[in-house]
Amino acid sequence: MTKTADIPEGEVEAFEIGDCNIALYHLDDGDFFATDNICTHALAYLSDGFLEGSTIECPLHGGCFDVKTGEGLCAPVTEALVTYPVRITDDETLEVALPI
Ligand code: FES
Repeated sequence: MTKTADIPEGEVEAFEIGDCNIALYHLDDGDFFATDNICTHALAYLSDGFLEGSTIECPLHGGCFDVKTGEGLCAPVTEALVTYPVRITDDETLEVALPI
């Protein structure tokens, strides 16, 4: 995948892997998290939204999710995001564990 240095802290990047559209977040505290990139409310890419702390705000209707847990934090979101484990290899490559 990509290297840790490719995503600045406080940023989110989109990746398409097979049929999966993934949002990969680099939080201000240095941790990385991954979720589905498509909002659970309607068709919007969370990677186009606004990341503050561990909260991503959807660019379409302003719904918010905790990227660490996928939990929906405010209306109009009623359904959590799917989250995926992220690991960093010895050479600083980011790997996301997707369902087979
Ligand atoms: S599409 Fe994300 S909150 Fe509506």
